[in-house]
Amino acid sequence: MEQTFEPSYRYALQLHNTKDTLKPYKEAFYLPQGHLYFSAHQLGPLSQRVKHSTLERLDQWEKHTNAGWRLFQWLETEDLVADKLAKILHVNKQDVGFSPTLTVGMHILLSTFYKPQKGRKYIVMLKSEFNSDVIAAESWVEQHGMEPGCLIMVETSDKDPQVAINNILSVIESHKEEISIISMSLVSSHFCHYYDVQRLIEPCKRHDIKIILDFAHSLGSVPINLTELQIDAAVMSTSKFLNSGPGSYGGLYLNPKYRELQSGMRGWFGQDRAILTTQQPGFKPSAESLKRFQISGFDPIKLGQIDASLSYFVEAGIDNVTEKNQGLTRYLMSLLQTLPQVEILNLHSKYCGHVAIRVQGLQQGVTSKQFQQILYDQEKVYCDYAGRYDLIRFGFGALYTSYLDVYALFEKIQKVISQNLHSNPSPKL
Ligand SMILES: Cc1ncc(COP(=O)(O)O)c(C=O)c1O
Repeated sequence: MEQTFEPSYRYALQLHNTKDTLKPYKEAFYLPQGHLYFSAHQLGPLSQRVKHSTLERLDQWEKHTNAGWRLFQWLETEDLVADKLAKILHVNKQDVGFSPTLTVGMHILLSTFYKPQKGRKYIVMLKSEFNSDVIAAESWVEQHGMEPGCLIMVETSDKDPQVAINNILSVIESHKEEISIISMSLVSSHFCHYYDVQRLIEPCKRHDIKIILDFAHSLGSVPINLTELQIDAAVMSTSKFLNSGPGSYGGLYLNPKYRELQSGMRGWFGQDRAILTTQQPGFKPSAESLKRFQISGFDPIKLGQIDASLSYFVEAGIDNVTEKNQGLTRYLMSLLQTLPQVEILNLHSKYCGHVAIRVQGLQQGVTSKQFQQILYDQEKVYCDYAGRYDLIRFGFGALYTSYLDVYALFEKIQKVISQNLHSNPSPKL
């Protein structure tokens, strides 16, 4: 942590004026009026380009129905999205695609990589993993008629991200010949830790274990360079830090070494576009990007939203976005460290796109859950309470969160703490 941070508005203004090259983008976003928005990890806000794209495509659909595919090149949106996603992930366009949701992407990858009959029966995950990934893995273990114990759930720590990696390395050591897949989030959705998965790459390569990462809480938030980080595959969400809209499509990535690999779950849209309507028997996989992993046709409105939203990231430069996110999160952490009642869970993470805290020692036993509700009801702060581990999370969007917002958030947290330390109110809940 830099020593130069200081808890004053003057310093926040200095950061805003000198450090924030992305501040003009804030105007492009519709943020809840009179509120501070720190829920980027749940749902990114609407932007002008996404709104424009949505209205434009609705208009095209209204006026031209099915001819929209031809007249407005709706089909080409998949190439535009793959192009931008590849830039954001620092990979070749050929190795990215999209899936209806992140969980469907996970099912597609598990159906492709998990072949327990060949002797590798274990899937390894973290106990604290977001449960949709775990449910997906359980279903594939069951589908293959394997024992539930074939899903190995590894202990984690809420404060030290290295514990998870150390424990996975121990499991690799004990079961190296029998592990098929290690699947985990790059950034923990609960504790907001960044996991140093680089430490897993070499042992996994040595023992031919596949690594599938979940980027739901990391893409658009922390640095990801998939040309450097040699994982096997990844699933991702575009609705959170990438702001493409609620229920938006997920992204898919496969290492270039799998360019000949076919999906375990095939559908007609996995074929070359030119032959889709010929309806000839037999599956002829597309050779372009990850189209061969697509199952069904897509919604050009949704895909247009992703394309519009990603255009901001490509224009601003994803490295600038993630660098600013690190600046914002570290700034909030250093401010919160001046408050003894606040415990920061991901203080020691290498990278942070959001901040997870617990609040303790307040009068009348105000809990973290009540604290989050007071922040929302009284101070008009969007953030969320993660009940499973009793913590509050603040998510940052570098394109619309400013250093001044962070300072304003700190002042509100400080205010609620001091009210509950000195004036003894019963919180209205
Ligand atoms: C880490 C993580 N994985 C998976 C999911 C599920 O995503 P989807 O609803 O797109 O399948 C979420 C949703 O918030 C998530 O945070």
